[in-house]
Amino acid sequence: MTVMLNESLNVLQVKRMRETLYSALLLQDVSFFDTETVGDLTSRLGSDCQQVSRVIGNDLNFILRNVVQGAGALIYLLILSWPLGLCTLTICSALAAVMLIFGMYQKKAAKLTQEFTASANEVAQETLSLMRTVRIYGTEKRELEQYKSWLDKLADISLRQSAAYGFWNLSFNALYHSTQVIAVLVGGMSILAGHITAEQLTKFILYSEWLIYSTWWVGDNLSSLMQSIGASEKVFQMMDLSHSDQFLSKGLKLQRLVGHIEFVNVSFYYPSRAMISVLQNVSLSVHPGEVVAIVGLSGSGKSTLVNLLLRLYEPTNGQILIDGFPLRDLDVKWLRERIGYVGQVFPLHQHYKFCVYSKNFPTTEPLNRNQNFFAWTLVRTLSMDVHEM
Ligand SMILES: Nc1ncnc2c1ncn2[C@@H]1O[C@H](COP(=O)(O)OP(=O)(O)OP(=O)(O)O)[C@@H](O)[C@H]1O
Ligand SMILES: [Mg+2]
Repeated sequence: MTVMLNESLNVLQVKRMRETLYSALLLQDVSFFDTETVGDLTSRLGSDCQQVSRVIGNDLNFILRNVVQGAGALIYLLILSWPLGLCTLTICSALAAVMLIFGMYQKKAAKLTQEFTASANEVAQETLSLMRTVRIYGTEKRELEQYKSWLDKLADISLRQSAAYGFWNLSFNALYHSTQVIAVLVGGMSILAGHITAEQLTKFILYSEWLIYSTWWVGDNLSSLMQSIGASEKVFQMMDLSHSDQFLSKGLKLQRLVGHIEFVNVSFYYPSRAMISVLQNVSLSVHPGEVVAIVGLSGSGKSTLVNLLLRLYEPTNGQILIDGFPLRDLDVKWLRERIGYVGQVFPLHQHYKFCVYSKNFPTTEPLNRNQNFFAWTLVRTLSMDVHEM
């Protein structure tokens, strides 16, 4: 029954944790995704959340149960014979010290394991999603080497963990047997001196075994709890990230949008590459209905202009105005719903079957000549199936 309850709690906990983490990620600024890689984030959502759920599962439950059992056994031992009880307590303290060191090592190892797994995922994800590029440049071997190097690191840390576990078990066995030897020696002498009876010594041996096993269970579960905590650090950090300002503030919704766009002395660099200035004092004005083509060398900042217009990033200097209103003052969701956007790299999202990534376009209203021309050019370029609009 308890196991079933634990399992159910675990499933719910993992679900809730994934939901919270995913919603925190979805509400981050776009610049956040320039520094965090997809492989890393999916790894946090996947294996890390699963690992964290163990905290409320068996580990915590076992630890509490065994602490209570161990404390009970210790009190009884001290009542039976305090010198013998103190000897067992000293041995248990030594075991607890080893267990603490082992637990701390497990925590560190778990953090590294999560990081290495995330890095291996990242390499695999990047390679598999850019398979054409990899094939063209013939870098399969290099990619494999890179993936293998992360796997080697993972294997290395697992081997160290096994060695540490072996050491922990050895310490336990040595200390466990030493309690039995002490009990027989000191207990035997106490019987001879008439301080305790043979029956009391038998009870003592049984209870000290109980105490030492409780310490072992606490240690074993504590180390796996530490592992969960090590793995969870990044997950909790990410869950605590505050949402992008854009989702918190409510801006203006203009009664009527004419569509006069102005860039006034706009300068910009990407937060992830602060040393490289992409735009410097750019000013331009686009009037309603005007068709403008921005031409420039690759990397000169054309897409960046559009990113700024969509408020995916904020200009570092200067400002952008729509119908005379600063972009920052407008409701960002409202604004984006009014912009038809076709990305340069355009993988179709499963929820958007149409060619233009906008809520209002294609519309139910008939398209005007310009819109029609662009829509069909786009459809042709992307070789898409199109339904009657
Ligand atoms: N998310 C980003 N983070 C950091 N730097 C970026 C980012 N996106 C673009 N850049 C850099 O900003 C500069 C301008 O890029 P942008 O994509 O605006 O150029 P572009 O004119 O659209 O090029 P292309 O003609 O190849 O599409 C480039 O140096 C590019 O490497
Ligand atoms: Mg571009």
